[in-house]
Amino acid sequence: MSGIRIVGTGSFVPETVVTNDDFSRIVETSDEWITTRTGIKRRHISVEEPTWMMGARAAKAALESAGAAPEDIDLLIATTVTADTYTPSMACLIGGELGITAQSMDVNGACTGFIYALDVAQKYLSCGMKRVLIVSAERLSKFTNFKDRSTCVLFGDGAGACVVERAEKPFASYLRCDGTGAKLLYAASGATENPFAEKPVTMGEEFSYEPVGAIYMNGQEVYKFAVKAMPEAVEQAAKAYGIGLEDIDLIIPHQANIRILQTAAKALGLPMERFAINIEEYGNISSACIPLCLDELTRAGKLAAGQTLCLVGFGAGLTYGAVIFER
Ligand code: UT7
Repeated sequence: MSGIRIVGTGSFVPETVVTNDDFSRIVETSDEWITTRTGIKRRHISVEEPTWMMGARAAKAALESAGAAPEDIDLLIATTVTADTYTPSMACLIGGELGITAQSMDVNGACTGFIYALDVAQKYLSCGMKRVLIVSAERLSKFTNFKDRSTCVLFGDGAGACVVERAEKPFASYLRCDGTGAKLLYAASGATENPFAEKPVTMGEEFSYEPVGAIYMNGQEVYKFAVKAMPEAVEQAAKAYGIGLEDIDLIIPHQANIRILQTAAKALGLPMERFAINIEEYGNISSACIPLCLDELTRAGKLAAGQTLCLVGFGAGLTYGAVIFER
């Protein structure tokens, strides 16, 4: 089975920066609490760019860095949990903006979305397709309940993208979903509510009520899941790739909480230097975290050819998974 080569990357983050101190003016919190409990210092918030537009800008940058034209793309995969429209998919909106007319679709794997998309891309490429554009864009600030201090301080907005081609190299993935945890982290679409009823009909007794669209999270339970899921995904992907954990040069993880990454590093017996981390600047941008980090590392010249990379995500679903490939 063939593997992948990332031939171009791009990203976009909105200009407006919201600090922890800004949050302490709207909810009962502090820079100290947010920093020590999560590792987040700032997040970028989109004031005017819709999700698809952030995605289009990241995708355009990825095409440029790959030296690829819109007509060179055979498949466009977009990932988001914060689409501007239920239909058409965000991929269609981005393709329309960039002049891409190849088949286009969204993949919703929540914070694992980019990992899921990369796996889908690899499967298409191994069947003979030439070039796939993956773009992950999120505007979580539009789905945040700014009265809930336990979630509102965590999220940010932004986008990351990459162009992927087939390479005769090994590739391994380990992807999972435990749907029994769906009620631990979700945002209701409103589709199950009767807008004419005196009392809104909610999704079911087990789902705690949140305003339609706003993100609900049982932080502690998701934390417990994450610190198990992340090491499991890395270990199983390494096993499938046929290497030991010490052979992984760099892990690019979903950036939900620095403590999750520290706990996972300990469980894996790997030093923190082996993990790429940018949570301080952006917070949790769901599926956009990993490709944004990938683009930052690439542009900073921090990735060398031949490096073994592991990308690992976890999030709503509850989805989780990792991919391993050679840079
Ligand atoms: O991206 C998808 C995956 N998401 C994740 O992986 C997130 C997983 N969960 C987490 O990262 C953590 O659970 C949180 C960061 C969400 C919360 O941290 P925690 O250490 O688990 O805090 P907690 O929920 O146990 O709350 C501890 C205390 C509570 O107060 P009491 O009941 O002890 O008085 C909370 O009300 O901290 C309080 N608290 C806050 N205090 C100040 C919760 N949020 C805040 C806040 N500022 N922003």
